[in-house]
This record gives sequence, C-alpha cells and structure tokens, in this order.
Amino acid sequence: MHNAGLPFSNYVVRARVLHCLSLFTGVPGLKSVCSDDGLGSRNGWGACVAGGRGLSLHMEGLKGRAGHDIKRNAWNEHLTRQPPQNTGFLITANMAAYPPEPVDTIDWRQVGFKIREVAGHVESHWSKATGTWSDPDFVVSPYLRIHGMAPALNYGMQCYEGMKAFRSPDNVINMFRPGMNAERMQHSASFVSMPEVPVDHYLKCCSLAVGMNAAYVPPYETGAALYIRPLLYGSSAQLGLNPPEEYTLVVYCVPTGVYHGTEPANCLILEDFDRAAPEGTGSAKIGGNYAPTLRHSDAARDAGYGITLHLDSKTRSAVDEFSTSAFIGVKKNGDKVKLVASSSKNVIKSVTADSALRIAESFGWETESREIPYDEIKEFDEVIAAGTAAALLPIKSITMKSKNEKITFAAAETEPGPVCAKLLETLRGIQQGKLEDKHGWLYKVEKPVFGRGTGVHRAGP
Ligand code: COI
Repeated sequence: MHNAGLPFSNYVVRARVLHCLSLFTGVPGLKSVCSDDGLGSRNGWGACVAGGRGLSLHMEGLKGRAGHDIKRNAWNEHLTRQPPQNTGFLITANMAAYPPEPVDTIDWRQVGFKIREVAGHVESHWSKATGTWSDPDFVVSPYLRIHGMAPALNYGMQCYEGMKAFRSPDNVINMFRPGMNAERMQHSASFVSMPEVPVDHYLKCCSLAVGMNAAYVPPYETGAALYIRPLLYGSSAQLGLNPPEEYTLVVYCVPTGVYHGTEPANCLILEDFDRAAPEGTGSAKIGGNYAPTLRHSDAARDAGYGITLHLDSKTRSAVDEFSTSAFIGVKKNGDKVKLVASSSKNVIKSVTADSALRIAESFGWETESREIPYDEIKEFDEVIAAGTAAALLPIKSITMKSKNEKITFAAAETEPGPVCAKLLETLRGIQQGKLEDKHGWLYKVEKPVFGRGTGVHRAGP
C-alpha cells in the first residue's frame, strides 16, 4: 500500500451502512480501517465517501453508486479497482493526539515554497437554488472537478486569499488573523460579482482544512508555516455573461517557508505595464491582478531583481504595491521611527502590513497610511515588502530605469535593516505563539469534529 505519510495514521475510519466492500486501502497512511458489516477492507478504491451524517471525505472523481462518473487522476490511478457499492459511510476521525506531530516525510529544514502533497482540501458550494453555503467537505485529493465552461475559467470569476497557520512551542495550531482575510475575500468577491462568504463559514472551512492537515503544520523550531489558500470561484457552466447558478469555495494548505527568502532583495519598478486601472480592480485579490505581472517579474528576476514594484497607473508618480506584497517605507530620526504605508485605493489591504504597523505602534513608533510619492522613496532609511507569503522582506534597492535611478538602502545592503529585523522578530514571535498575543490575532484551530450537528458533514457526492 502506498504510504505518503499522511496524517490519517491516527484516524479510525469506520465504514458503516450496508454493502461496504473494498474501502480505503489505497488512502495513503490509513492504518485502521473497518466496516460495521464485517467485510473489512480489501484492495479497493481507497476512497471514502461519507454519506448521511458523516464527514464527507472522498477521492476526487469518485461518485459511488452505479452510473456515476469515476475518473482517474494522479491520486487514484493506483487505486482503480471496484467502485464502492454505496455512499453511506460514516467516518469518525479519532485523532487521539491532536494536533499530530509533523510528518517525517518532509525535510523541515528545507521547506521552500513549492507544492507538496498533503492530506486534502475543503470544498463548499453555494447554489442559487438554496441561496446557502453547503457544509464543508474534506476531499482527499488536490484535484477539483469543474466544468470547462465555468465562468471561473472563462471570465476570470475568482478571487483568493493567503493566510498562514503556525505550530506554537506548546503544540497548539493557530491561524493568523483569519477574520481579516475573510473580510478581504468579501471585498474581492464583490469586485468579480460573486456572493460574499460569511465570515463564520470562511473560518469553519479554513479551520477544517488546517485541522485535517495538522500533520503538515511545520515543527515550531523551523519557523515555517502552513500556507492556507482559500479560493472562491464561479463554478457552474454557462456561456452568457450573467451570474452563474453555483459558486465554490475551496481551501488548500501547503507547508511553506517564505516566498522571496530572507536576504535583502533588489527591486525594479515596472514601467511598461500597469497593474491596475485607476478605477479598476487593484484592491481585489483576484488572479487578474497577478497573472499579467508574471512575464514582467520573471524578466526582472532574470535581470537580478528579486521583486517588482508598481506605481499608480494614472500618474505613475505614487507608489502602489509590490507584485507580491505591500510597500512600507521606514524613516528614522535618532531613536524615532516612522513607518509609512501606501493608502492607494488600488492596493490590496495587506494583513501583514497592517500587523507591522500595529506592532510598530506598540513600540511607540509613529505610523502613517497615505499616498507615497515616488520622489519620497529616496528619503526612506529602509523599505519593506509585507505579505503573507513574503512575511517582511527587506528591500536593498529600487531601480527606475526611465529615470536612470537606483535608490539604495544602506541599512539593508547585506542583511535586513534593524527596523525590519525587529518587526519581523516580533511578528514571528506572535504568530508562533512565542510572544504574548496582545492584539488577539491568533485563532486556535481545534481538533476537527465531525458528525451530527457539527456542520462539517454532508452527504457524499
Ligand atoms: C500571499 O502573500 O499570500 C500572496 O497571495 C502572494 C502570492 C504571490 C504568493
């Protein structure tokens, strides 16, 4: 049996209801499988479809009973045997020790920033017919089933979020400020004509995704995190440019380090491309604000610039944001420190930048959110890129080719400047549960509980 070291080894999976044949033997890491009808497990589908009252934990493409689509994918290609005879399984997750220890299949000293196989993802659907969000399903697959004519794929009807969960020294798993991300997703959804995900539903889906992937939350000592990627999209098929019948919220998790690394980065201002129109979608976290920057940031990287910056597209004279993160300028005057963040209406409201500013205030430093003219950049002692994936990245220089200017920040020439270093140490300390969470930013991820009345169960597909 394939065993990728998934966290199900601590689970008791109980297959109930009648005719349970060949269940679960292919689900990586599942140790204990039994069926109430005594048939036990054999070489089977390695899939579990919870029906009735159980958590929905299922392989992508598996539809259970006769006549339903059974699709192969990377996960189930080693599992293709007989389909299960019904979908009425009850699953109880018995995580005796929660949270489980981190898996030992990842070299936690080199987590990096890449896709890794984890336990699965969460899905929830909104339908026009019911006007409500379905209870979240946990899906043991990284794949989505989506009609090719979905407006997400054709008309860019999607928005996403980025958050992180950390393991504390006393082995508690916390998400960092997820409520702020929930609100930001509501803001983004409105820009691409999608319904809001209620904050409590967003939190429930994210908690389930993190709780079920708890074995992928990196060890505390590594400083790495479980990156959380909620994604909302128009999912039903249609040709016309009108609201779809269905929207889907999914939540993915992947263990990561920091995106740009920790060394000070050279930055290039992108001048032959506008990220956001003056009255456009710049403040929404939608794919359309990211994909178009790729070819430019890729070319910049080849030329030695680790990060790219956008000025406002109307006047090209004020700072908007980096392609991956928010802009913070730092001014020092003796012991006095001031942080300046861009208040442009075309930047994404950064949870990390906001946290840095609040931390700065707790040190007694001054903070401002306002327009930042390009000409002011040279007055900064340090510049920091702030984002969930990036954390706080020190900027070494900013180049604007049309002006033949390269502004350098001496404080960050070889290592993070002192302000960046102090902010990052405190931010990390709070995120990791090492420092007191005075702001109430940590959201504890409890052990997933499934079953009647818990709201994390739903009939299988
Ligand atoms: C994040 O920081 O979470 C983002 O979404 C940026 C992305 C380019 C990784």
